[in-house]
Amino acid sequence: MALWGSRWRKSLEEVVEDFTYSLYFDKRLWKVDLLGTLAHVVMLNKIGIISQEELAVLKDEIKNLYLEISNNPDLIRDSEDIHTFVEESLTKRIGDIGKKIHTGRSRNDQVILDLRLYLREETCDIAELLINLRKVLLELSEKFISTPMPGYTHLQQAQPVTLSHYFLAYDAMFSRDLQRLEDIYKRVDVLPLGSGALAGSTIPLDREYTAELLNFSKISDNSMDAVSDRDFVLEFLFFSALTYNHLSRLAEEIILWATKEFSFVKLPEEYSTGSSMMPQKRNPDVAELTRGKCGKLIGNLVNMFTIMKGLPLSYNRDLQEDKPSLFSSIDELKIALRVWIGFLPKIEFDTERMYKLSSEDFLFATDIAEYLVLKGVPFREAHKIVGEVVRFCEENNKKFRELSLEEWRGFSELFDRDIFDLLNPESSLNLKKTYGSPNPVINKDVIKKREEELRNIIDRW
Ligand code: ARG
Repeated sequence: MALWGSRWRKSLEEVVEDFTYSLYFDKRLWKVDLLGTLAHVVMLNKIGIISQEELAVLKDEIKNLYLEISNNPDLIRDSEDIHTFVEESLTKRIGDIGKKIHTGRSRNDQVILDLRLYLREETCDIAELLINLRKVLLELSEKFISTPMPGYTHLQQAQPVTLSHYFLAYDAMFSRDLQRLEDIYKRVDVLPLGSGALAGSTIPLDREYTAELLNFSKISDNSMDAVSDRDFVLEFLFFSALTYNHLSRLAEEIILWATKEFSFVKLPEEYSTGSSMMPQKRNPDVAELTRGKCGKLIGNLVNMFTIMKGLPLSYNRDLQEDKPSLFSSIDELKIALRVWIGFLPKIEFDTERMYKLSSEDFLFATDIAEYLVLKGVPFREAHKIVGEVVRFCEENNKKFRELSLEEWRGFSELFDRDIFDLLNPESSLNLKKTYGSPNPVINKDVIKKREEELRNIIDRW
């Protein structure tokens, strides 16, 4: 029976029940619904709506229900939604006292309270996972601080970088994701309860007290906004889509690096799969699924925007559809983070091959142009000179290394014997002066800063 059924003469068509039913996805809110209910009745006792004795009974039954569902989650069934289930179950057990629970409360402010309580916890779990992923990335950056590899633009070999620099690039993305999450938390951490259906209540509910009980830092100050605001859901969906997008970019690197053509990595058996037909295959399914599942998180964000677009104030049943998207993004993000935390440290990197490819001497063309700049040649002129050297090499099937000093001098008098010192990845890296470049000395500093940043984040969470 629905909570609102007394005025109805006919019961709902079965197909309408099926259509409006949300218990199958909102049942995961059962713990927070009980917690919110507990805080609400404690507050109702404080303002004199519920007596001391009634409160004692309610507390006991809330606790019993909690324990029973913990032991047997299948108990949750047969109601329209989780809020109805909790209220009905309590009322069944304690009769009239249970009927007081919903005083001054609507499912409209209750559902958004539940969602905020739930997301507050999930946010902490996800922050912890992101912190652990960043720890893995920072460890790998330390390990490969001086491991040269070719860097790419347009997927064409460009200049030498280090494997460390790659990991630090991804760590930078996840660092921004963590900052975003921390910021979103502030807007999740607001108590909506006490807003009623949309216009508050004539009962003097002590909202500050409920907020204190549930450890919220703020209470909402507009009851219509409170029951219809889903900005924090959108923000979280954006955060999770973007974080997942970073994972999917990393996944794509691994897929490329695992090809025969790149051969930069060997995938650990525990994280790769074989082919049912081709015995030689070792497939990067984990990375491919990360790339593939990312679409779902972007879809969830778009779905939520589509629900919210043009939605008039205040609560509308459309809002019930916020939860499947939110839960899906939370679940997908958490499992993907867990996978990558385990996966990354087990990947074997062929650092010899990376070194070899980063020694391809056209990768030093930019350094050579800058060598001329440091001897006073305007950059555009230097670029042209080195371009001519490259063309000469291509036409004569030669490498930079195979040119004699005379040949270099034929292009510019400024070339000296020290030009040959430039033609290896170590020099290219060590000579980099700019902060943020792959120079290992600079990156050691960057790693220290990132570790410090991570320690501060851990303290704050
Ligand atoms: N199941 C509903 C939801 O998830 C709860 C609120 C229902 N409110 C209402 N007025 N029908 O949004």
